[in-house]
Amino acid sequence: MRRAKIAVIGAGNVGATCAHWAASKELGDIVLLDIPDRVGVAQGKALDLACCAPIERFDSNIKGTSDYADIAGSDIVVITAGIPRKPGMSRDDLIQTNVKIVKSVSEQVKKHAPDSIIIVVANPLDAMVYTAWKTTGFPTNRIMGQAGALDVARFRTFIAMEIGCSVEDVSALLLGGHGDDMVPLPRLTSIHGVPVSELLDEKTITACVERAKAGGGEVVKLMGTSAFYAPASGTIQMCEAIIKDKKRIIPSAAYCDKEYGVGGYFVGVPALLGKDGVEKVLEINLQGDEKKLMDESISHVKDLVGTVCEMFPELA
Ligand code: NAI
Ligand code: 2OP
Repeated sequence: MRRAKIAVIGAGNVGATCAHWAASKELGDIVLLDIPDRVGVAQGKALDLACCAPIERFDSNIKGTSDYADIAGSDIVVITAGIPRKPGMSRDDLIQTNVKIVKSVSEQVKKHAPDSIIIVVANPLDAMVYTAWKTTGFPTNRIMGQAGALDVARFRTFIAMEIGCSVEDVSALLLGGHGDDMVPLPRLTSIHGVPVSELLDEKTITACVERAKAGGGEVVKLMGTSAFYAPASGTIQMCEAIIKDKKRIIPSAAYCDKEYGVGGYFVGVPALLGKDGVEKVLEINLQGDEKKLMDESISHVKDLVGTVCEMFPELA
């Protein structure tokens, strides 16, 4: 059987950690690509990781490179290339620099891996997915962004911490853009089917919602740069669903037109991920404030994309 191939663009914190999780799950061969100035970093991390194989027992070829010819035949390309935020910066502050990077990377992906599925991670996420889509012209099922997998994992973690139960038993859903106005849904959060409202009071649930929304900023404040273990873990959860055709439902930045009344943008929604990428967007009935919050989040995504198109008219 042919092994799957995953290319990770950007061998920094998130990229290298994606390679780490992918190797440890033995998802396939891995190419870790960075700019020529940092090819040594990509090669060094790839070699270091390859030497874990006898201990961790995985068979994967792991190559560090700056040559896009090496990504040919990739099933999935993960784009982490881009600057991360520093304390005091929002994800949106990264737009000018990261559009240029994601655009140039996407041009290479289109040329060298035209049949791949792209998972964008660079921030501001929703605008970077749009940038990759406009640049490659790939069908919308083959372009998506990682954010919800991380954000919902944070929400589940904080709920589990409050209850003192295993995170495995906390099931939750989250919608919207990857910004401070993301929309965790306590109504659809349960512990083995028991609504969270039966186990935690409203104030505690609200605190978990707010902590999940600010979870990225909390890590930046602590260590001076953005998170990478959980973002990479979420990304590789998506890769695994696609490579193994698992049909998992994972909150992902997926293209929505009629769905949720979005009108042709990538936003965080429950997406069914399988061998064809985003195979379906699940639309659920939002109640009460949920719809208002989702609309606000969608509107922020549209503003961000509007800013991208003003700065880079060729992407409009
Ligand atoms: P990092 O600075 O550790 O790594 C970025 C890497 O990209 C560097 O090695 C850099 O040399 C490389 N790079 C820059 N331009 C490139 C190009 N044109 N081609 C190939 N490689 C290039 O940053 P980190 O922490 O890995 O974050 C990467 C991006 O992911 C940031 O934009 C960050 O905000 C975002 N992020 C997104 C998350 C999400 O959930 N969507 C979570 C965490 C980070
Ligand atoms: C995070 O949520 C910065 O988007 C990144 O950790």
